[in-house]
Amino acid sequence: MKENLNRIKTEALNEISAASAKPQLQELELKYFGRKQGLLTSVLKSLSGLSDADKRELGQSANQLKVELEAAIKAKFTELDAALSQRFVDLTVAAPVPAGHLHPVTLVKREIEAIFRQMGFAVMLGPEVESDYYNFESLNIPEEHPARDMWDTFYVKQDDDAKSKEKLVLRTHISPMQVRVMEKHKPPFAVISSGRVFRHEATDARHEHTYDYTEGFVAGENLSMANLKFVLTNLFQQLFGKDVDIKLRSSYFPFTEPSVELAMACIFCKKKGCSVCHTGWLEMAGAGMIHPNVFSYARYPKGKYTGFAFGIGISRVVMLKYNIPDIRLLYQNDQRMLNQF
Ligand code: PHE
Repeated sequence: MKENLNRIKTEALNEISAASAKPQLQELELKYFGRKQGLLTSVLKSLSGLSDADKRELGQSANQLKVELEAAIKAKFTELDAALSQRFVDLTVAAPVPAGHLHPVTLVKREIEAIFRQMGFAVMLGPEVESDYYNFESLNIPEEHPARDMWDTFYVKQDDDAKSKEKLVLRTHISPMQVRVMEKHKPPFAVISSGRVFRHEATDARHEHTYDYTEGFVAGENLSMANLKFVLTNLFQQLFGKDVDIKLRSSYFPFTEPSVELAMACIFCKKKGCSVCHTGWLEMAGAGMIHPNVFSYARYPKGKYTGFAFGIGISRVVMLKYNIPDIRLLYQNDQRMLNQF
């Protein structure tokens, strides 16, 4: 019995001093003092079967050992606590956070802006919530004019007590920047403005209610369709390569006269006709010579200036550049798609 106590003592002290964490110490407490199977507990229990003299002697040693081990465990707990509070925790060394990257639409928007800057264009920003006046009326589209049907519009409901009774819409294009800029600047100037536009229409692989668009307009003296064609050809050559094939087809917009549509030979099938283009040609932009009525809304002297304007759906450019089959993928923010850029 005496030897047994000595063995317990050496083993327990070794184990206690080797413990490096609190749970380990808690296990040791159980191992030696557990009510049912604790090693020391069972020694104490077995004393009852001994003679009185042995009981007294061994009982004393066993109790001493109990006190000693309890003290050792307590000291070790304190030591571990102290070590823990001294440990330096550098919270700035957190798990690495993904840095993020630019959205493909932003990449293309910036590329387009860089190309226009080279050509001397200024970049300006306009409001997404636009007045009916700038979005339509100043663009030679009076109220009730059938041409309004060209743009399925989201009208913005105004509070009855709104300060201004002006009718508001989500801009359906960025052409409203034309008169906004003309009111503040005198020609000559060349401006582009990019951003989101909104159309109240059903969505499918080629249509979104919200998409990205770049408007450009140039005003000065003696400008012609040739200047318009040069600027757009230069843009599409830089975006898609020198050998892009471009043609202008006649079209209609109330704010340009004459109006054209720019079509680019399909970069996938080279005009043969495929599932992307159907006809061999892709419609890339609407454009034309600025209508004299637009200049009069800007209160420019009659007949003094000429200019051209164009609008490019840049979501379309993004889809072609990166071979994205469905425009809706651009606006869902699905990480599996975005992480490819
Ligand atoms: N704003 C026209 C549209 O939404 C495009 C356009 C812009 C046409 C400038 C001519 C001039 O389709």
